[in-house]
Amino acid sequence: MAKGAAGTPAVIQAPRGTQDIVPPEQKYWEYVTETAKAVLRGWDFERLDTPIFEETGLFIHAVGDESDIARKELFELKVRGGGAAYSLRPEGTAPVVRAYIERGMRSWPKPVKLFYLGPFFRYDRPQAGRWRQFHQFGLELFGSAAPVSDVQIMFVSHVLLQQLGLEDYQFQINSLGSPGDRGAYIKVLKEHYRRSRAKLCRDCKERLKTNPLRVLDCKEEKCQQVAKIAPRLTDYLSDEAKQHFENVVTMLEKLEVPHQIASGLVRGLDYYSGIVWEVLPRATEVAEAGQQQALGGGGRYDGLVKQLGGKDVPALGAAFGIERIIDRLKQEGVELTDVNRPRVFVAQLGEAAKLGALKVMRRLQEAQIHFAESIDREGMQQQLKQAGRIGASWVVIVGQKEVLDKTVILRNMASGMQEVIDQEVLAEELGRRLDLPQ
Ligand code: HAM
Repeated sequence: MAKGAAGTPAVIQAPRGTQDIVPPEQKYWEYVTETAKAVLRGWDFERLDTPIFEETGLFIHAVGDESDIARKELFELKVRGGGAAYSLRPEGTAPVVRAYIERGMRSWPKPVKLFYLGPFFRYDRPQAGRWRQFHQFGLELFGSAAPVSDVQIMFVSHVLLQQLGLEDYQFQINSLGSPGDRGAYIKVLKEHYRRSRAKLCRDCKERLKTNPLRVLDCKEEKCQQVAKIAPRLTDYLSDEAKQHFENVVTMLEKLEVPHQIASGLVRGLDYYSGIVWEVLPRATEVAEAGQQQALGGGGRYDGLVKQLGGKDVPALGAAFGIERIIDRLKQEGVELTDVNRPRVFVAQLGEAAKLGALKVMRRLQEAQIHFAESIDREGMQQQLKQAGRIGASWVVIVGQKEVLDKTVILRNMASGMQEVIDQEVLAEELGRRLDLPQ
């Protein structure tokens, strides 16, 4: 342990790029995850949980050994005694594809629609909106090559964002075409960049040799200037890919999904083929946004199942960053009611009433009535003050007489009126007064 200035042990802090989700923040997390689960289940996506770590080779193979994720951002695990190399998962698509193949989901009725939710890890430089441990929910669909499936994934994402109460966003969409289309484009792109080579950052000079498409989404200002005037991938698409792209865009228009064509969008993962997209706050150009602003992204990865050892199956999906969605909810001023806030306070008077109060609390909890309490306190004034502080509407008072009579005193905090109620009917009565579902 590091020593502080005076030789005392330094206070241990959370690892860089991670955060504690403290109680006051939980309402946002619950709201986003519960909404995501409800919407995705509603659209018949089924939940799949995969391990938090996988063999490193899975990620390198899927996202591409030249991608930032594989080159610099993997959290590799040091395993006692050597053996297989493992890494914490940086994203969810590769593990889902691995599970799809390993669990024989190809024989399930098509299309197979899965969703996931949980922590992911990238050893990136922490900054606003970019964490080393972050959380995503994602959805993946296997077994459809139809443009309407690309639209479906985007539409479900749009519905979900709307359901969350977000308004100020837009889908940026592009097509990467087939590997053949990309080959022809890359030649022209390399030529363009070779002429401006001197203006590029060191990484991009390297990328130009190993993975030229990546120069298009470099976050460095000077590289973005060169990217702005680069030839466009959409001009090099095959007729088939062009048609697919046009179909998708027309359907998005008809469904009124806010979108914009972004010919510079290539995404940072190698497995994509065809349509790719990101959701950005509206009025943000892809170039100026960099990647840390995207709320989510997705696309088609038709070749990935085969590449990871399965049979050829077209597939596509998307994932959203929960931290970034929560930031947007706050920025857009979406008001959340804290459904978990206790509206009942249980107070007790006298030593003998404490155990009686615990029994009353048990009844309330079993009836799913959330209460606050301070069983260790004595004075009634003190307890009523606390009930006021947490904004309770009702106080249940248990005194020695009430324990004997199997009753409680129910106090209305707004009016100060008190009445005696049988413990037997207390939960039901409170449920009615709090307007809880019966
Ligand atoms: P991605 O664009 O790398 O795609 O990540 C999806 C979303 O996760 C981002 O748009 C962002 O909101 C969030 N995110 C990524 N990195 C961080 C970070 N360091 N800190 C905070 N949030 C972050 C994928 O992961 C693909 N697997 C998506 C996909 C699914 N494509 C097809 N299916």
